[in-house]
Amino acid sequence: MSNLATERVLSVHHWNENLFSFRTTRDRGLRFENGQFVMIGLETESRPLIRAYSIASPNYEEHLEFFSIKVPDGPLTSRLQHLQPGDPIVVSRKPTGTLVLRDLRPGRNLYLLSTGTGLAPFMSVIQDPETYERFEKVVLLHGVRWTSELAYSDFIEKTLPANEFIGDAVREQLVYYPTVTREPFRNNGRITEVIPSGKLFTDTGLPIIDPAVDRAMICGSPAMLDDCSKMLDRLGFDISPRTGETGDYVIERAFVEK
Ligand code: A2P
Repeated sequence: MSNLATERVLSVHHWNENLFSFRTTRDRGLRFENGQFVMIGLETESRPLIRAYSIASPNYEEHLEFFSIKVPDGPLTSRLQHLQPGDPIVVSRKPTGTLVLRDLRPGRNLYLLSTGTGLAPFMSVIQDPETYERFEKVVLLHGVRWTSELAYSDFIEKTLPANEFIGDAVREQLVYYPTVTREPFRNNGRITEVIPSGKLFTDTGLPIIDPAVDRAMICGSPAMLDDCSKMLDRLGFDISPRTGETGDYVIERAFVEK
């Protein structure tokens, strides 16, 4: 059996000129943990063009959802952005990844730190009932340059709190903190500024982040990962050294470059 299944595009949503999401059919045999990624891509004349993409939908949904940047000269995203319902897309049968709840020690509040399309795995994590069973508050930070890049904000603020299964937990426990760095917005500043300065805690009323009880997941560009890891290290957090070993935080690079 091939490692790749051929799925069909169900719908495509363009957030702005640079960002879009799309849904595909899901092989009945595909099992994954919320926060994981799969390889997806397109068949071309020569060989399939395949890249890693976090799954943005939770593992109990029948479809798969992905969140992507559009890179004008990117070999894959320049083609993916033209996807239409009904188009074929290949999806690997082997989900993997480090942004999984089981690699975090038990704790009080869970911080999900993301920039750009690094939000994708956390869309899956915030729809997982286990996230709310394991943590008191789930604090989702999404850092972007422009407000038009705040993809999923309506879904997080309006749709999810009204969800029949998970809405109660979301209303009680999810704290969404979008922050914009290059134009006025209700929250400004990089994640690496709003945490050390204490602004996040003043704005939300949350207790100051504490490595003794709080846990974190990070997903963004390589530079963002590096800077957020250093910030957490300075605060006294221990990284999970590898998949299967617990830590105070886990990281994954966002798959944004192509
Ligand atoms: P800034 O506007 O100050 O560069 P990008 O689109 O470049 O990935 O950036 C997405 C968001 O992440 C922007 O708000 C950007 O802020 C911020 N950002 C970029 N690099 C870092 C970093 N090393 N650490 C934290 N935030 C970052």
